[in-house]
This record gives sequence, structure tokens and C-alpha cells, in this order.
Amino acid sequence: MISIRPYREADPAAVEALLDRSFGPDRQKKTVYRLREGVAPVKELGFVAFDNKALRGSLQFWPILVRPLQSCGPPVAALLLGPLAVEPAYAGRGIGMGLMRVGLQRAKQLGHAIVILVGDLPYYSRVGFHREGAEGLRLPGPVDPNRLLIRELVEGAANGLEGLIEKPDGSGAEVTVAAGHREAAP
Ligand SMILES: CC(C)(COP(=O)(O)OP(=O)(O)OC[C@H]1O[C@@H](n2cnc3c(N)ncnc32)[C@H](O)[C@@H]1OP(=O)(O)O)[C@@H](O)C(=O)NCCC(=O)NCCS
Repeated sequence: MISIRPYREADPAAVEALLDRSFGPDRQKKTVYRLREGVAPVKELGFVAFDNKALRGSLQFWPILVRPLQSCGPPVAALLLGPLAVEPAYAGRGIGMGLMRVGLQRAKQLGHAIVILVGDLPYYSRVGFHREGAEGLRLPGPVDPNRLLIRELVEGAANGLEGLIEKPDGSGAEVTVAAGHREAAP
């Protein structure tokens, strides 16, 4: 039976190996990794799926800021969902959805208001992500705009949201977006 629990200190090595298997060794070249470099994931929002003491899935969230480009307003805090990975042999058993439901519920409990990700709309729409409201967001690198998705955890939190997505310290956004380039996954 699959169970989901929060990350423990001993998990990172197994998680990194799972991510390499799921996304390939080039995964760190993706634009979203520019936002993760040198930044710790949100500690309370790391979850793993286990079965017979073996890791079968993993989900993490990173803190980000959306810095308005059209106004002088302050940056808006949000979460970047991912990476989400499930052991290929265990795909299709609800592990990915289970991890996201747990993670999003906990994020809401902790007071986070906005979650952003780069991924496949047909999959992530199952847990409430959509394109509407993400049109004005820019990432610090190439990404397919159709894969930039958003979900509010607090109603109205993303009203009028636009701007450049940055690391929490305001760095990582030096490169402008070349719209239309496809980014494989979060
Ligand atoms: C994508 C991934 C996380 C899905 O995890 P999972 O545990 O197999 O997913 P679930 O069992 O919760 O959901 C399975 C359902 O989602 C669908 N699905 C899976 N990946 C999908 C995708 N990229 N686009 C649309 N639908 C998808 C499946 O067809 C299945 O549909 P069904 O319920 O109608 O049969 C997993 O396959 C994975 O780790 N892939 C490699 C890494 C990756 O690409 N991650 C990010 C995805 S953008």
C-alpha cells in the first residue's frame, strides 16, 4: 500500500535519484531550476510516497516572488510547485495526484495564497490549475506560455497578478522570456 509522509532528512539522495530517472540528467537546465538554484525548498511542503519502504514518488515546492512589471506595486509571494515525480513502474496509481492533494492542502493551511507551475494543463487541471490569470507572468528563461499554470489557494489572491517570477531574494530573473519555447516539465 502506498503512503504519503513529509520529507525526512535522509530522503534527499533517493529523491534526487528518482528525479534523475524521471526527468533525465538534463533536468537542471530547465528554466524553473534557475529559480531553485541556491534556494531551499519550503521545508514543510516536501512529501514522499512510499511502498514497502521504497520511494515511489516525491513532491516539493519552492518559494518565489512575482515582481510587477506594469506597476510599482510590491512583489507578491507565491509557491512554485515541483518537481513532481513518480517512479515510472508505479505511474497511473494516483500517486502524483495524491502527493499534490496533500501538498496543496498543507500549503493552504500554512497560509500560502498562490501556486504557480510549468506543466501539462490536462494533468494539473485535475487539481485546479489553469491558464487564466497566468498570461501576465514571465519566467527568467524560455518556457511554453501554454504550460505556465496557476492556482489560487485564497480566492482573489491572484487577481491582476502580472510580472516577472524571481527567487525570494529578487535574483534569478536576468534573462527575458522567449515565448513559444517548450519546457518539458516542472
Ligand atoms: C506525470 C506524473 C507525475 C504522473 O504521476 P502518476 O502518479 O502516474 O499520476 P496519477 O496516477 O495521479 O494520474 C494518472 C492520470 O493522469 C494522466 N496523466 C499522467 N501524466 C499526464 C500528462 N502529462 N498529461 C495529461 N495527463 C496525464 C494519466 O493518463 C492518468 O489518467 P487516468 O486517470 O484518466 O487514467 C508521472 O508520470 C511522472 O513522474 N512523470 C515523469 C516526470 C514528469 O513529467 N513530471 C511532471 C509532469 S508535467
